[in-house]
Amino acid sequence: MNVLLVGSGAREHALAWKLRQSPKLTGLFVAPGNAGTAAIAANLDLKAADLDGVCRTARDHRVDLVIVGPEQPLADGLVDRLAVQGIAAFGPAQAAARIESSKAFAKDLIRRHNIPTAAFATFMSRLDARNYVLGLADAPVVKADGLAAGKGAIVCDTRDEALRAVDTLMADEALGAAGRTVVIEEKLAGREVSAHAFTDGVAVAPMPFACDYKRARDGDQGPNTGGMGAYSPPAWLDEPTERFIHQHITEATVQALFQEGAPFRGCLYPGLMVTDAGPRALEFNCRFGDPEAQVILPRLKSDLLEICWAVANNRLGDVAIEWSTDACVGVVLASGGYPDDYETGFPISGLAAVEPGVLVFHAGTALADDGSVATAGGRVLTVVATAPTLADARARAYRNVQHIHFSRCHYRRDIAAPAQNAIQ
Ligand SMILES: Nc1ncnc2c1ncn2[C@@H]1O[C@H](COP(=O)(O)OP(=O)(O)O)[C@@H](O)[C@H]1O
Ligand SMILES: [Mg+2]
Repeated sequence: MNVLLVGSGAREHALAWKLRQSPKLTGLFVAPGNAGTAAIAANLDLKAADLDGVCRTARDHRVDLVIVGPEQPLADGLVDRLAVQGIAAFGPAQAAARIESSKAFAKDLIRRHNIPTAAFATFMSRLDARNYVLGLADAPVVKADGLAAGKGAIVCDTRDEALRAVDTLMADEALGAAGRTVVIEEKLAGREVSAHAFTDGVAVAPMPFACDYKRARDGDQGPNTGGMGAYSPPAWLDEPTERFIHQHITEATVQALFQEGAPFRGCLYPGLMVTDAGPRALEFNCRFGDPEAQVILPRLKSDLLEICWAVANNRLGDVAIEWSTDACVGVVLASGGYPDDYETGFPISGLAAVEPGVLVFHAGTALADDGSVATAGGRVLTVVATAPTLADARARAYRNVQHIHFSRCHYRRDIAAPAQNAIQ
């Protein structure tokens, strides 16, 4: 089978690495990929945003299945365009991708279907939004409706801060069209966890849970980033809570989309808060998390290509999926300054010194003419280690981080630190 993978992050490198293990795979193309995918696949000079280019290339290379990594091409309707041409895809059609591309749509949908979430109201008028904030007893979370690359949710400590957030999004249009509609949400307290599931729109196969770290610095300090590390599984999550999430959030949402005429095919990833009153959905993503994919996929024992093909062809129920009980820890190495300004073009050394079995997934990397690898983005690499226990996986990941060097490298020291994974 020929596969075209769309995207260029460490998530896509992890997907490419796992797809490579499939005996069913013949050609693997990545658009545009990075220096890591170049070593195991054919990178194409094609941006993920170039939907026409992706469709044309899929035809030209006789691609059987397109696997879409990032959310933007899904929100823009890439899968619908491929379908018109008879090309199978792993990833939702535009109507189902709205679960991520419109927070107002997602919240309305799950409210209609009684799926547990934070209380909320949606506004298209700034005055109405301000009046609502003034009437609240507590400071809320203010969210842009549309895609905002992780910058669209403003967790407020005071109502004044919430008023400013409303103004930033709706008057200053700091996020453009994404913030013209806002969702104002009850602020919840608890622990966050990422649920992922394969689904063909009807059958649902949950993946192991994972936790990510959004803030730039240790102790959850500093600005939000795309994600600085992750681990799986979270020992603090008990089985009844896991079952509740599968049944009442993930499966219920798949059913809701199906019933409303927008069946979801691909990876559905609800972001959750586990509160004292039980789990609540904070948001839904329509693709794998990055960095969650980097710690989930190494635990997959089954053939990823077979699963993706089954999802695209409404046959997920026929596939048995097995997971390793090993723990997995991923530490992101970023460019100094990220998520704000940073420099690129620094040579990366030590990649070959990493222990066998430890995975280094590339994100912002580029290959020089002489074959050497240099930094080319904010998040540069994810170093991933597995082991029977989380503590051992963590020690192994950090031991190998020490082998890799590039100028102004920054990473968090507290990914999967014992205190954060404690059972409370
Ligand atoms: N209702 C809420 N209560 C408390 N924190 C929240 C709430 N909603 C979101 N957050 C925090 O904001 C982060 C980002 O919000 P999210 O809805 O996931 O949007 P996005 O990932 O699109 O930025 C969450 O990971 C969580 O830490
Ligand atoms: Mg989120």
